[in-house]
Amino acid sequence: MKLYQKNATLFLIAIIIKRFYQNLQKLQVLIFWLELAVFNILNNSLKCSLVLCLINFTIICMKLKFIDLFAGIGGIRIAFENAGFKCVFANDFDKKCKITYDLNFPNEMVLEDISKLSTNQIPDFDVLTAGFPCQPFSLAGKRLGFQDERAKVFFDIVRILKDKKPRAFMLENVKNLQYHDKGNSLKLIYQELENIGYKVTHKVLNAMEYGNIPQNRERIYIVGFLDEDSFKKFEFPNKIPLTKTIYDCLEPDVDEKYFYNNKPLFEKIKDFITKKDTIYLWRHGCLIENKKKVCPTLTAFHNIPLILTDKGIRTLTPREYANFQGFPQDYKFPDVSDYVIYKQLGNSVVVPVVERIAKQIYKALSSS
Ligand SMILES: C[S@@+](CC[C@H](N)C(=O)[O-])C[C@H]1O[C@@H](n2cnc3c(N)ncnc32)[C@H](O)[C@@H]1O
Repeated sequence: MKLYQKNATLFLIAIIIKRFYQNLQKLQVLIFWLELAVFNILNNSLKCSLVLCLINFTIICMKLKFIDLFAGIGGIRIAFENAGFKCVFANDFDKKCKITYDLNFPNEMVLEDISKLSTNQIPDFDVLTAGFPCQPFSLAGKRLGFQDERAKVFFDIVRILKDKKPRAFMLENVKNLQYHDKGNSLKLIYQELENIGYKVTHKVLNAMEYGNIPQNRERIYIVGFLDEDSFKKFEFPNKIPLTKTIYDCLEPDVDEKYFYNNKPLFEKIKDFITKKDTIYLWRHGCLIENKKKVCPTLTAFHNIPLILTDKGIRTLTPREYANFQGFPQDYKFPDVSDYVIYKQLGNSVVVPVVERIAKQIYKALSSS
């Protein structure tokens, strides 16, 4: 084989390898190709150089590791795994979440209050993720912020970051966190994270604008990096068109139990629920119509959105809830009451939005 033919073959091999490793940068493929060529020239054996390069390359490309704190049912985990990260630790203190989580992921969730979790129990990792409790900042709650015991867990996140010094983190919370206490809560969060050496940025993203999921769900994402270079390279994802409609998330055949026909609330709502392409919400004794033709923000509370179908008025099913959160079709739920599943999904994230952020974090970290 002539030298140029050999090099063309090597380049093809490099391209094929790229398909096996997610998130590879052009530069890494180029380095791989050059390495392959040099090894080949040195020992004149394609097989031997290929093995050497693959070992070398696997070491370079070993997946970035993350930990899934406040893991819930693993929405953030699915997103980060889809972006090419490897999960090495998961924690939550909710027994019911653990049942759902362990049904779906191979390494078990550690069931423990985060305040009792010692950093020695956590293996080394590159990225910390945490959708920490949002009730203290939520418009739907009492909005006590850091006065609320549940928000104190933020300081456990800081403790773990300080002890383990991972390269990056992503925190998720309700949009209102940015306005809470006239912006002082977010300021405090920035101060705490910057004090331990992180460069921090944040953005509010709506799932219907950034995830191609027909749900009006705005969440704040706080991202930080230890080194300046990765921080500069990181950008939040851009808006993308919403091509999915509510029909992409609705199931065709639904069990009778989800229909409202002749149930107590039926008489109150039947004359107001008139449009089949609209999702409604019964909240605080009022019926709210979603004018944007998307699903209103799914919550962990008992107000499940309502729709009108040919067979009558019904609530969304748990599977539809999962679809509006962008969960994969093969995600499994245990045999528990529907309300447990609604609550778990309402507390979770819209997977495609987090996945797009995770990909940007991966890019920033792997090109630095
Ligand atoms: C907003 S949810 C996060 C859901 C998760 N991102 C998901 O995709 O399912 C917050 C989670 O934090 C957990 N949590 C709250 N306080 C905790 C604590 N002190 N220790 C451990 N987990 C806690 C709750 O059980 C809940 O599952």
